[in-house]
Amino acid sequence: MSQHDQYEIRRFRAGRPDDGAAGSGAVPPETEAWLQAVNRGFYDQAFTPRTLRREAGYYHADDRLMTGVYVADAPRYSVGAEVPVATFTSFTNTLSTGDALLPAHLISDVTVRPTHRRRGLLRRMMTDSLASAHGAGLPIAALTATEATIYGRFGFGVATQTSTVELDTTSRFALPMAEDGAVGVVELARREAIAEVAGDVFTRFHENTRGSVGRQAAYPARIDGTINGYREEPDLSVRAALHYDDDGAPDGYLTYRYVDGRGSTDAVPVIKILDLVATGPDSYLGLWNFIGNLDLIERVRYDTARIDDPLPWAMADTRGYRVTGRSDLLWLRVLDPIACLQARRYSGDGELSLAVTDPLDLAAGTFDVGVSGGVPSVQQTATGPRTDADVTIDVASLSSAFLGGATIGALADAGRIRGDETAIRKLARMFAVDRAPYCITHF
Ligand SMILES: CC(C)(COP(=O)(O)OP(=O)(O)OC[C@H]1O[C@@H](n2cnc3c(N)ncnc32)[C@H](O)[C@@H]1OP(=O)(O)O)[C@@H](O)C(=O)NCCC(=O)NCCS
Repeated sequence: MSQHDQYEIRRFRAGRPDDGAAGSGAVPPETEAWLQAVNRGFYDQAFTPRTLRREAGYYHADDRLMTGVYVADAPRYSVGAEVPVATFTSFTNTLSTGDALLPAHLISDVTVRPTHRRRGLLRRMMTDSLASAHGAGLPIAALTATEATIYGRFGFGVATQTSTVELDTTSRFALPMAEDGAVGVVELARREAIAEVAGDVFTRFHENTRGSVGRQAAYPARIDGTINGYREEPDLSVRAALHYDDDGAPDGYLTYRYVDGRGSTDAVPVIKILDLVATGPDSYLGLWNFIGNLDLIERVRYDTARIDDPLPWAMADTRGYRVTGRSDLLWLRVLDPIACLQARRYSGDGELSLAVTDPLDLAAGTFDVGVSGGVPSVQQTATGPRTDADVTIDVASLSSAFLGGATIGALADAGRIRGDETAIRKLARMFAVDRAPYCITHF
């Protein structure tokens, strides 16, 4: 028997928990075994019946397609054969190009049990999923990655990055332009109120932010402390604040928590920002002005800041802003180059032919790309990458460059783009962006 023959792949939609009394409804057994397998894969604590029911409800609301890989028999005393040895989910949400919202094939919950690794299970689940998304006409796939070496081979490239920042909020902290209410009003909010306003505020942020991904159903509960690890009770240490526009409507919010700073390098009182969503510069600076001026607090930490954050430029003392880390967040994988390239505006006009190579042959082809007045027009001229195209790019690099997360110049210098220098410069001018793409959705 070949290794492949011992596995059965099953796909199913996340089952809805029964409508029993709160906390007592049953989750369909296949969904339960699958969710518990994901927990094991990420070393999380097992679900209780109540947290399982809640999780299943969110998966159902996202309309997730779950893939499980099963073995026919399991040895005595081992985890049963009803528990998958590998898991994978996909669901649809939108990716913002800043100019349009593209339907995106989101991939998550990728686990392979250590005892079944390196037998091609990830490759099978991934290639099947990408092929079916491509067949269904979805223009792009997206994921977030635990390791940077896994997904490039499937055509994914890093598309957005974020910084981890630490602010000194002692008397050194000052935002001159935010003084005297110049950037609007901020007020403490009830923790429970955040779920009511977060959706609308995020939607406005999402539509205008290149690189943003729509949030899954669990998000409001995740950011306001209702989901508290695997505990059943909410995290009551979560606090919230809202920024109001001139008409008194919320246009930004943040949730945060006091953390004991004693474990850190400086033993000082610290606030950790859990989620900060601002729909414009006023709400962004207004919220920072609030959090930076809390009494008794000496540091504020935030691990999802823009890499081109305006905050230090607004501070009187820029040295109070320290970047302590940087990491990739969103990985993109172009499936349909025409739909993707036509979903954004460009900075430079011109015409050139672009050959795209693809290890899975889903997005491969040669395309005439023309931009006039910033508006693109893209036509396919060959089903494969033609050797006489002006520029040749692999699909992972195209996915990184698509929203400006990687510059064309950097990709060319890294040997990821080939072509004559004039064409590469032209492509670089076209793709240039005024702000780095930014994603604050973890999925
Ligand atoms: C990462 C993981 C999903 C890989 O699953 P797998 O079934 O062993 O992978 P496959 O056998 O299908 O390997 C596919 C390819 O990826 C490579 N690969 C797999 N895991 C890798 C890793 N961690 N780092 C680098 N390459 C890796 C394999 O060498 C193989 O390459 P090839 O096809 O070019 O020869 C699995 O190790 C796992 O569950 N890890 C823990 C959870 C996790 O990190 N999940 C990812 C969440 S984003």
